[in-house]
Amino acid sequence: MCGIFGYLGNNQHAGALILDGLKALEYRGYDSWGVAIKKADGTVFIEKHTGKIGNASLPVFQSHIGIGHTRWATHGGVTNKNAHPHVDCSKKIAIVHNGIVENFKPLKSHLIQKKHIFTSETDSEVIAHLIEEIHTTEPDLVKVMQRLRSKIHGMNAIIAFFPEYESFYIIKNGSPIVVGVGNKEFFIASDTSAIIPHTKRIYFLEDEEMLELTKSGIRLYNNTGMKKKISYSTITYSAESAQKGSYDHFMLKEISEQPQILKNIIDTKKREIIQAAQIIKKAYGTYLIGCGTASYACLAGTYLFSKIAHRHINFAISSEFSYLVDFLKDSSLVFALSQSGETIDTISSVKKAKEKNAKLLSLTNSRGSTLYRMSDYNLLLHAGPEKAVASTKAYTAKIAFLYLIAHKIAKTYSLGEKNLTKAIDEVTEIIFHKSKIQSLSSKIKDHQSIFILGRGVSYAAALESALKIKEVSYIHAEGFAAGELKHGVIALIEKDTPVILFNPEDETYDDTLSAAHEVKARGAHVIGVSSRNDDVYDTYIEVKNCGDATIIPNVVIAQLLGYYLSLSKGHDPDKPRNLAKSVTVK
Ligand code: AGP
Repeated sequence: MCGIFGYLGNNQHAGALILDGLKALEYRGYDSWGVAIKKADGTVFIEKHTGKIGNASLPVFQSHIGIGHTRWATHGGVTNKNAHPHVDCSKKIAIVHNGIVENFKPLKSHLIQKKHIFTSETDSEVIAHLIEEIHTTEPDLVKVMQRLRSKIHGMNAIIAFFPEYESFYIIKNGSPIVVGVGNKEFFIASDTSAIIPHTKRIYFLEDEEMLELTKSGIRLYNNTGMKKKISYSTITYSAESAQKGSYDHFMLKEISEQPQILKNIIDTKKREIIQAAQIIKKAYGTYLIGCGTASYACLAGTYLFSKIAHRHINFAISSEFSYLVDFLKDSSLVFALSQSGETIDTISSVKKAKEKNAKLLSLTNSRGSTLYRMSDYNLLLHAGPEKAVASTKAYTAKIAFLYLIAHKIAKTYSLGEKNLTKAIDEVTEIIFHKSKIQSLSSKIKDHQSIFILGRGVSYAAALESALKIKEVSYIHAEGFAAGELKHGVIALIEKDTPVILFNPEDETYDDTLSAAHEVKARGAHVIGVSSRNDDVYDTYIEVKNCGDATIIPNVVIAQLLGYYLSLSKGHDPDKPRNLAKSVTVK
């Protein structure tokens, strides 16, 4: 969601740097973009566009300070005027914003009464005018920003750019913002992926803090305007790991990285897994929460913990968990899963849980992310940057952690490692023979709907698989518990409707096979994913039995199917329409 990139330093090509920075953030999802750059002659260049940056370039002029923004529309349509940066009436203040100003309506009415002229339909524009209004009576910009903060409601990251003073003021509540510090130069961005080509020295701004960036340096203030010491973090991943390399798409690259990531979890994460198992054992009730793909990993976790560790773990999607926190205690544990660690629905429900003094264990792919910093205990996926909007490697890495933690609790860790190793071999095979999945995609690509069925942990796999297919191919795909078929879903089955069945040789096998017969009798094209072939399948995809870790290769099949369906429909699997990688607004 909205990307922000700003620069202040000695490089005289700030425009090109900013454009490159915005391109590095494209994966977050956006529908318009804009820049405000101070030229060497003192004037400010502002340009805004709808659509993607593509091969756009900016006119060549000397500049060493400016800010850019990619907008994912919330308030106001996708138009040039609604794109950021927004300026005040005097055009001396340019702001970019990520988040929602929840009370923008009364603020806007008040500012209109004060004769401010608005040019957009956005909530964000009130920020520029409000700063202007406060600044008329308050010369100190730190105090101006403090007052601005006190007047604005909602989760926001705001950068105010004062070209006249060559300074930036940054405040945040909820929405992420990071600053990279190079050699006498500063980079501001919504996440580290845009900064990493320039510097690995990063500061993650905390809620209630304010950063002031000027030619003379960087200053951090607390919420009362007192100066604070800055403790920098160092980013450990390389700029290359966030590139596509020889792959056509990030999605295929990330699918292909899975065997190595899973192996790395077995080889290097045992200590953290043992600690997590102890934390869960001690807790009085554990609640797994996440959104989208992370939520389906959580759901799989409940089955894995129940079956392997004989432990009941609650599950809720994060956006609903806020309404379920009343029964939490100080001995409760919230186990939050999030690739980005920045998903607002997860962060806001975690905040509510923390108000009840519940403890927070997080499993994220992003050291230093908001969720990471909020947590009492952290687990890191170490899956490397995930840039495709559709989450793939982060999902299987989450499952591997949950699976091994469950085995640790059950005191069957070696069995867990053994099955996970088998699953890795299966994933490697599937990726090697991915042309088979590509052929299947060409057979089913013209169908309106695809159904995916499973029981137990395979039900969770069915939900994740359906999400993968629909988000990148735009084909209607639904995952169902196979047992629900006869309670309604079967009405949707027509001649040749593709129905994928996850049918591992576990306690669900016979019942899932019955479901295969039921849909076959209604004319479905039955696609069996199993270690055992059966006549009922029109198409059979073999996945060897890896115990409960079979969920991993099963979902990899759906990841590849989604990828190839997307290509066959002529879509860009990395940047599906309407979606953002990191969902930082409610
Ligand atoms: C996954 O393919 C989706 N794009 C989406 O559901 C995602 O998993 C969800 O927004 C949660 O993201 P997170 O893991 O970064 O919290």
